[in-house]
Amino acid sequence: MEIRGFHHQGILLLDFINWANSNLFLLAIWFDRIPARTVVWHANGNNPLPRGSKVELTSSNLVLMDPEGLIIWQANPATPVISAAMLDTGNFVLKGNDSSTYIWESFKNPTDTILLTQILDLGSKLFSRLTETNYSKGRFELNFSNGSLELNPIAWPSEFQYDHYYSSYTYNANPYESGYQLVFNESANVYIVKLNGENAQFPDWDRINYTGDNYYRATLGFDGVFTQYSHPKNSTNNQDWLPMQSIPINMCNAIFNDIGSGPCGFNSYCSIQENGTPTCDCPPGYVFQDLNDRLGGCKPTFPQGCGLDDGWGDPEELYEIRQFDNVNWPLNDYERLSPYNQTQCEKSCLYDCSCAVAIFDGRRCWKKRLPLSNGRYMDTGFSKTLFKVRKEVPPRGYCKVGRGTKKPVLLGALLEEEEERAILTDWAYDCYIGGRIYLLVDNDKVAMDDKERLKKWVEVSLWCIQDEPSKRPTMKMVLEMLEGFLDVPLLQSPFPLGSSG
Ligand SMILES: *[C@@H]1O[C@H](CO)[C@@H](O)[C@H](O)[C@H]1NC(C)=O
Ligand SMILES: *[C@@H]1O[C@H](CO)[C@@H](O)[C@H](O)[C@H]1NC(C)=O
Ligand SMILES: *[C@@H]1O[C@H](CO)[C@@H](O)[C@H](O)[C@H]1NC(C)=O
Ligand SMILES: *[C@@H]1O[C@H](CO)[C@@H](O)[C@H](O)[C@H]1NC(C)=O
Ligand SMILES: *[C@@H]1O[C@H](CO)[C@@H](O)[C@H](O)[C@H]1NC(C)=O
Ligand SMILES: *[C@@H]1O[C@H](CO)[C@@H](O)[C@H](O)[C@H]1NC(C)=O
Ligand SMILES: *[C@@H]1O[C@H](CO)[C@@H](O)[C@H](O)[C@H]1NC(C)=O
Ligand SMILES: *[C@@H]1O[C@H](CO)[C@@H](O)[C@H](O)[C@H]1NC(C)=O
Repeated sequence: MEIRGFHHQGILLLDFINWANSNLFLLAIWFDRIPARTVVWHANGNNPLPRGSKVELTSSNLVLMDPEGLIIWQANPATPVISAAMLDTGNFVLKGNDSSTYIWESFKNPTDTILLTQILDLGSKLFSRLTETNYSKGRFELNFSNGSLELNPIAWPSEFQYDHYYSSYTYNANPYESGYQLVFNESANVYIVKLNGENAQFPDWDRINYTGDNYYRATLGFDGVFTQYSHPKNSTNNQDWLPMQSIPINMCNAIFNDIGSGPCGFNSYCSIQENGTPTCDCPPGYVFQDLNDRLGGCKPTFPQGCGLDDGWGDPEELYEIRQFDNVNWPLNDYERLSPYNQTQCEKSCLYDCSCAVAIFDGRRCWKKRLPLSNGRYMDTGFSKTLFKVRKEVPPRGYCKVGRGTKKPVLLGALLEEEEERAILTDWAYDCYIGGRIYLLVDNDKVAMDDKERLKKWVEVSLWCIQDEPSKRPTMKMVLEMLEGFLDVPLLQSPFPLGSSG
């Protein structure tokens, strides 16, 4: 890694930083003298660079290049650069021929964090990162543009902003009484200054009892919460950043837009942890789309529907209701039935191909469909959250996509548990008879490319697991059938009707 001309002063360092033990690097400024190397600014979060990349101070610019010399990022000051400096505050600056002014500053081009003495002018923005460890642009934005500090959810990965979930309401039609700077002052207080010199404190924030023994920062977290932190300079006992105050106070309740997924991704729900931070989880029968991205939403582990729509007669054989209380998705109702009892409510959802969840409060039944949005953990009192999920094992004779988490990859490999064996074998046979072999290999492309061979393998495996041992071929016969020397006899059900189930 080539670094030209930057040396750290104080505790903040500008350098390439290794991204999560990968071979990728960020040009970043971070707190260097604490165990948790905390990035407070970066140039290329969306484009991490491989080893051999470099940053160069030319006569006109500060540029970041990949090993081939392709420019990935540049500072683009308006006038020529004479020198660059890292100030003790953590502000990295470019200077022109007049050394008393800066022609570019990291403080004026922030990413997700502001530091002591940093001032944001109107038009500034902070972008959250995608996850704690992925510095790509994330799902929230702090917009200080029109007199107010606003926090907005983003229609990720585009830049479209949904309605704000927090506003400082410091806009005034009279510009003198409107907010014009967001200040992180020398004694660690964050507030908005109006053009007439008045300060506007965030209503929920206390005055900081500043002490020179701490480092301070304020960061728009990947979870959308703007939090001010402190960290003891003397971190002998492995202390971490301590959250001091946040906006909004309760992220889970803050977003309530009729479009967008809410504080968490679709089909998930938000709850506040003991330390005050929000977290997202999946309801029963659902899993994270991406395990590394908790805000990325959840997906059902089974196909939606009810059985009626695909020719299967009885939804109650295929689906069941699981009760999961104290969560709600307040915006997804499409039907409200009343007066109804719980049995009626559950059945109504089971037999309704659109229904994914029903809320029952003793008398009323609200039905909801996917995708579920604005999910949150809340004390819902007497109401019950009823989830429609696929039964673990499909009924006999049923051949359809998706068997929960167990993916039938190769027949032999999955016939382990005796009880499931019969059902799976039956299922495999039904898939075979129904001309749906592709379901047995989970639509595996390589397998599907050679359908004839796949069909033969399936036939041979079905012969091998015949209920009646005398019908099973010997290993020699299996090899001969697979190699084409022996025809595979016409198949019959491995479990003749009535012999098992
Ligand atoms: C300093 O830079 C400015 C802007 O590029 C230029 O107009 C001016 O002539 C320069 N002054 C000197 C003394 O080089
Ligand atoms: C960060 O997330 C984005 C979007 O999911 C992904 O494309 C990118 O590869 C991730 N970056 C790293 C370094 O993992
Ligand atoms: C600024 O905010 C006010 C109050 O929300 C709004 O009425 C006005 O249209 C906004 N102006 C711009 C330029 O966005
Ligand atoms: C930021 O806020 C201003 C004023 O409310 C608004 O006009 C603008 O669209 C917002 N978003 C962006 C991306 O600037
Ligand atoms: C910072 O702001 C607080 C609150 O407005 C104020 O009491 C304090 O004097 C300010 N500190 C400095 C160094 O300006
Ligand atoms: C500062 O100290 C006062 C008095 O001890 C306390 O009430 C206040 O909450 C403290 N401020 C913060 C931000 O912790
Ligand atoms: C930091 O820790 C050292 C050793 O424990 C101690 O001597 C020093 O006084 C501490 N400094 C502060 C500012 O607490
Ligand atoms: C629910 O209502 C149905 C229809 O009125 C009735 O047949 C059933 O017994 C009720 N179930 C319960 C548990 O009350």
